[in-house]
Amino acid sequence: MLTKIIRLDPLNFSIKQLQEAIDLIRNDEIVAFPTETVYGLGGSAFSETAVRKIYEAKGRPSDNPMIVHISDLEMLSGIVKAIPENIRKLCERFWPGPLTILFAKSEKIPDIVTAGLNTVAVRMPSNPIALALIKKLGIPIAAPSANLSTRPSPTEAKHVINDLQGKIPLILDGGPCNVGVESTVIDVHKGYSVILRPGGVNLEDLKPYLPMIEVYNNKNAKFSKEFKPPTPGLKYKHYSPKAEIVLVEGSKEFLEEKIVSLYAKYRIQKKLIGILHTHQNIQISSEILNDPRCKMFYLGLRDSDIDSDDSIDVEKIAEGLFSALRAVDNQKIELVIVEGISDKNIGLAIMNRLRKAASKIIKE
Ligand code: TXA
Ligand code: MG
Repeated sequence: MLTKIIRLDPLNFSIKQLQEAIDLIRNDEIVAFPTETVYGLGGSAFSETAVRKIYEAKGRPSDNPMIVHISDLEMLSGIVKAIPENIRKLCERFWPGPLTILFAKSEKIPDIVTAGLNTVAVRMPSNPIALALIKKLGIPIAAPSANLSTRPSPTEAKHVINDLQGKIPLILDGGPCNVGVESTVIDVHKGYSVILRPGGVNLEDLKPYLPMIEVYNNKNAKFSKEFKPPTPGLKYKHYSPKAEIVLVEGSKEFLEEKIVSLYAKYRIQKKLIGILHTHQNIQISSEILNDPRCKMFYLGLRDSDIDSDDSIDVEKIAEGLFSALRAVDNQKIELVIVEGISDKNIGLAIMNRLRKAASKIIKE
């Protein structure tokens, strides 16, 4: 199959440029499109045929449900049984944006979308191309991230091309995604709420609306007793580059010391090593920096930023995270030592992805 690519400026595009995507989706086909978090691979949320094609193109296990994307609250009413008052407030505050909420699903959504669950995960994306596409189509779009299953999510059209070229008919290239990690997935109940997947909306921002909210953690006995997570996605390996990831977490001193000793250990094994770090939080010795068999990758900075005094913030780290993981693979790195950062704000989503990708985590 030939994969067509249409470039669009998210701040200056015409509805005409979306027509081909709309026609394809109306005909049970699937299209990759940009959202503010990551690129999605979308089809009509009412079409079993389209959703089957999505699972197939991604190689996604069929028990992992998809997020349904909407453009307005009227569309939401059409696909869920009810919109409880406390959830309506969340929608008003956080949509459009990177928050996905579980609802009791109406019969309109085929079982294949939710992998047989009686809940449907819904979000309203804020990327203007995504919003306009759904609005003009008039149909909600079921879409997982547009990567091959287990690979890092795509934050640029070229990542989608790498994973899915020849498998899908069309990619809408709207440039890089500015959040960079996927949406926060939450399950809201009367007395308590659970973050099933940390993401673009921070725990700190949700707390004022949901004071009892907690982050799901499969090692917490409380959750195994009182709450069985409805997210099958949690059990799958995710976000993994081909390189082995060793994640180091702790104070600046611990990180600096550990990175040196891990470097020495793996260097003896003659592995092609990478170090993925923030450049500013910790110091890397010149011996390591000058070793041609050890390559530096930067969290939150492009190579071209390194010599300028561009400062990084945690949002920039999120924005560039998946690109950095893909860059590690492009350089054929066998093992990458990663500097862990704080779990604060969007750091929680970043560390969640890194911990899932890691084959070893070394904590202070
Ligand atoms: O930002 C995002 O969320 C991106 C963009 C494209 O919107 N989408 C995305 O989709 O990351 P995906 O399929 O890669 O991740 C969806 C997550 C999975 O962990 C899945 O298991 C969970 O949401 N999920 C979907 N429906 C669910 C449901 N009914 N109950 C529990 N979890 C659900
Ligand atoms: Mg995904």
